[in-house]
Amino acid sequence: MDKKNSPKNILITGGAGFIGSHVVRLFVAEYGDYQIFNLDALTYAGNLENLKDIEQAPNYSFVKGDITDAYFVNDLFSQINFDGIIHLAAESHVDRSISDPLSFVRTNVLGTVNLLNASLQLAKDNTDFLFYHISTDEVFGSLGREGFFNESTAYDPNSPYSASKASSDHFVRAYGETYGLPYIISNCSNNYGPNQFPEKLIPLFINNIIKNKPLPVYGDGNYTRDWLYVKDHAEAIDLVFHKGRKGETYNIGGFNEWRNIELTRLLCQLMDKKLGRKEGTSEKLITFVKDRPGHDLRYAIDASKINKELGWKPSVTFEEGLEMTIDWYFENQEWLDHVTSGDYLEYYIKQYQTQ
Ligand code: NAD
Ligand code: TYD
Repeated sequence: MDKKNSPKNILITGGAGFIGSHVVRLFVAEYGDYQIFNLDALTYAGNLENLKDIEQAPNYSFVKGDITDAYFVNDLFSQINFDGIIHLAAESHVDRSISDPLSFVRTNVLGTVNLLNASLQLAKDNTDFLFYHISTDEVFGSLGREGFFNESTAYDPNSPYSASKASSDHFVRAYGETYGLPYIISNCSNNYGPNQFPEKLIPLFINNIIKNKPLPVYGDGNYTRDWLYVKDHAEAIDLVFHKGRKGETYNIGGFNEWRNIELTRLLCQLMDKKLGRKEGTSEKLITFVKDRPGHDLRYAIDASKINKELGWKPSVTFEEGLEMTIDWYFENQEWLDHVTSGDYLEYYIKQYQTQ
């Protein structure tokens, strides 16, 4: 459905990645009056195959570029008057941040500040301008077995990834306070669904089960995450972008906590059914491996603010979401082969095969 809105130029960064591709697709489909510009450097995590169904849409353009390059960013912003930015481009994997923290500082901190600097002039000329920064619940650090993160929880990041995201959140807020840049930040829990690079838990384990490879569960597997289907996150981003209050932060979560080991067993059961394997076959692939350093015990989101203010709640149950995700990876094994044929394999071998 084409929602009626005044014409706008919207820049979405990181649109070739996992969450970004769902946000780009939603905006291109829903807002025929907008021009959607997808700015992405196409790192190992970015793949234009994620958007091949909409690449010919008249309201969509792809711009290849690196947000760490201030000259490039300023040049782009001098050519196009963006009315709003939805900033998703980032290095996003905790394990990679442990082996290479600097690339997280470059993209997540420096890249964000480059976009903020370039936005200042646009915001001066356009009172409706909005810088919408997409962040993570990991900035809040780790919960014990009880409690939830809400919008007033203090930042307490533990991994180089979450430290870099916390830093970028602080810069966004500081540009709001110091220069009056209109902004919103949202902090979301773990996403899953189609197009997720198979280094994160759910797609990695689906891929490994298909290929009969070990499932490396870190530590004792009792770490807990709150899982949200990616399309529900994209819907929340649409709502916050259009209806959220400037200068506010919103927590987004799935009300769906799972210990890693329980989630792994569920995946194994679903995959056995899907593959026509005897019950219990995939569970034999579970291998407990050395723990991730600084591993956060538990994340859980209190999403009542976005629910009360904007009426958002997840629409997909975990059973439905996992089913759709598994089906997608089965139907897109060519995609899996493409994305895992590059540096990922080397990385994976280095991390786990040598332990
Ligand atoms: P992703 O790794 O799948 O995609 C990141 C995208 O950014 C890729 O397309 C990549 O090519 C692009 N990119 C990376 N460096 C770039 C650079 N220097 N210049 C331009 N483009 C660059 O990430 P994702 O999982 O889709 O996450 C998107 C955003 O959402 C991130 O900011 C992440 O912190 C946040 N987030 C993710 C989750 C999650 O569970 N995946 C949860 C909450 C928040
Ligand atoms: P991940 O998908 O990397 O997301 P995040 O670290 O951002 O939460 O990991 C989710 C959980 O699964 C986390 O507790 C780490 C754990 N995990 C494993 O046990 N094995 C793995 O191979 C991976 C990738 C993650």
